[in-house]
Amino acid sequence: AAIEKGNFEHYMLKEIFEQPTTIFDCMRGRLMANKGLVKVGGIREYVDQLANAKRIIIIACGTSLHAGMVAKYLFEEVCRVTVEVEYASEFRYRNPVIRDGDVVIAISQSGETADTLVAIEKAKEMGAIILGICNVVGSSIPRTSHAGAYTHAGAEIGVASTKAFTAQLTVLYLIALQIAKEKGTMENERFRRILNELDSIPKKVQKILDNSYIAQSLASLYLDAKSMIYLGRGYNFPIALEGALKMKEISYIHAEGYPAAEMKHGPIALIDDEMPVMFIATKDATYEKIVSNIQEVKARKGKVIAIVTEGDDAVKNLADHVIEIPEVDEILTPLLSVIPLQLFAYYTGVLRGCNVDQPRNLAKSVTVE
Ligand code: G6P
Repeated sequence: AAIEKGNFEHYMLKEIFEQPTTIFDCMRGRLMANKGLVKVGGIREYVDQLANAKRIIIIACGTSLHAGMVAKYLFEEVCRVTVEVEYASEFRYRNPVIRDGDVVIAISQSGETADTLVAIEKAKEMGAIILGICNVVGSSIPRTSHAGAYTHAGAEIGVASTKAFTAQLTVLYLIALQIAKEKGTMENERFRRILNELDSIPKKVQKILDNSYIAQSLASLYLDAKSMIYLGRGYNFPIALEGALKMKEISYIHAEGYPAAEMKHGPIALIDDEMPVMFIATKDATYEKIVSNIQEVKARKGKVIAIVTEGDDAVKNLADHVIEIPEVDEILTPLLSVIPLQLFAYYTGVLRGCNVDQPRNLAKSVTVE
């Protein structure tokens, strides 16, 4: 059956608004928070390999790579395993080292991205175990992988990936938690709490969507910006990259994502009173550091928009604008912090008259090298 836009003006907006459902669908039958159980059926034969892996190498492109970057922070923290994240196109054209006990995870919405596919073929030849995290059932990457898990986000039509990204993150959280449990690398109390928090993510995403008018009104203020900087640290550094990517793709405004502390090694030179700087400044381990990064931008008269944890007054007093997101354990914040960034990019693109569902020069699935 044809996929309809329903009441939405664009597929992208529809897909952004589907996320409470798609995240829920992705966890269905895998997460039983009340029983303290998490099980991803597709990887069951490889749980031992994952738990004993000396190293996990994540291979992807575009938005899927950003999901992989979040997974690096996650797997290292909760599973105590070394993780490398690689652009598929870079991995395949060098002479990478694959050792016994390495596990490769390929992340791809379409399951057809040529660079990712060839990279895993190469890693497979070199003896790695390949797990695929894909959205399109029966596509080439799952067929080439030893095992994997589908993201169950449903067909994604908008070229810029939104619901597939949060579904990729969800699968990665589920796998990381399952492996952490298997390895005993997570304190039981924290494990149970994160399971419960994951369970309540769809509700929290819905709450952010109910306030989408905030991102919309900010879009109308900044639609003429020539350039934007997105800054985040820790789990939210990859989200800064993803927010900037969405803005470029959809609105054709140049946007750069950076780890907030790296700002002083370059991007700070760009800041003047016309430069909007988007901070992800939620209450987490690096909160105090981010606050001082915001002060540095304000001292140079940059315009600051900050994504903050509900009720945070300190950043509200510093920033020009804030977008609140519900409180959640730091490791899960990417699932929430990315939502306002998707909305901000979407509304900016629409106001600039761009073809948000099919941006110029981009393809949904890149099957050429
Ligand atoms: C294209 C799409 C992006 C996507 C990337 C990777 O560039 O426009 O939205 O993130 O490919 O695609 P994949 O299907 O491998 O996730």
